Amino acid sequence: MTEKIINNIKIFHHDCVDSTNKIALNMEEYKHLDTVVSDCQTAGRGRIGREFFSYNGGLYMSVILDPSKINIPLHLCTPSAALAVKKALASRGIENIFVKWVNDLYINGKKICGILSESRTVDSKIERIVIGVGINLKTRRDGFPNDIANKAGYADYNGDKLTLASDITKNICEYLSKTQDEIISEYTDNMAWIGEKVTVTDYADSNKQIEGVILGVNSDCYLKIRTEDGCERLLFSGEIL
Ligand code: BTN
Repeated sequence: MTEKIINNIKIFHHDCVDSTNKIALNMEEYKHLDTVVSDCQTAGRGRIGREFFSYNGGLYMSVILDPSKINIPLHLCTPSAALAVKKALASRGIENIFVKWVNDLYINGKKICGILSESRTVDSKIERIVIGVGINLKTRRDGFPNDIANKAGYADYNGDKLTLASDITKNICEYLSKTQDEIISEYTDNMAWIGEKVTVTDYADSNKQIEGVILGVNSDCYLKIRTEDGCERLLFSGEIL
């Protein structure tokens, strides 16, 4: 592991670890905005217990946040991180990035980034939040594994990985000091498939599948859709298929 400070952000850089989120949650001495980066992961964690495929050609990073230093509602950390990653990639000329509610970034219909926020709780008090970001930066010679081959893409970035990581952390920090309205408005502007009909799995309702037109998100970043009967539905936890 090497330790570097880039743009005032402390980066702990590993060649390969099981999961940067796991390290970031457990390392007692790490502080607000410290960032764990790895070139690959052997047990990358994704949403709903899935594995996140973490080949050597991506950026896998976890940002440590101290909840006492965050002014926005904690459930807006993940949407803020999505905007922060998009901004860092856009400043490197990587365009046409859309946010797929709630935690993925897409380019040309392919997923290039996933985000997983986790927390550490002591006596029911959240004492640390970790925002984990996985970005497919380069193409993979052997292609992506079969189960994700038709939906995985890459950002096509060959520049310096650690500077990108430090920019993402800086951007996350910036978003955390914005207002809830500013975050939600920018999030909505960057959402994929607004006005389009989609199918969504509702994790909060026995994984039911719902069809509807995406209208946007509410002030807590719940997905707003209009179903065929003309009703508006708010989904708090789910996945657009
Ligand atoms: C998802 O797409 O379901 C979320 C994926 C989040 C992956 C990142 S990679 C860095 C960090 N460490 C992990 O184990 N997971 C997150």
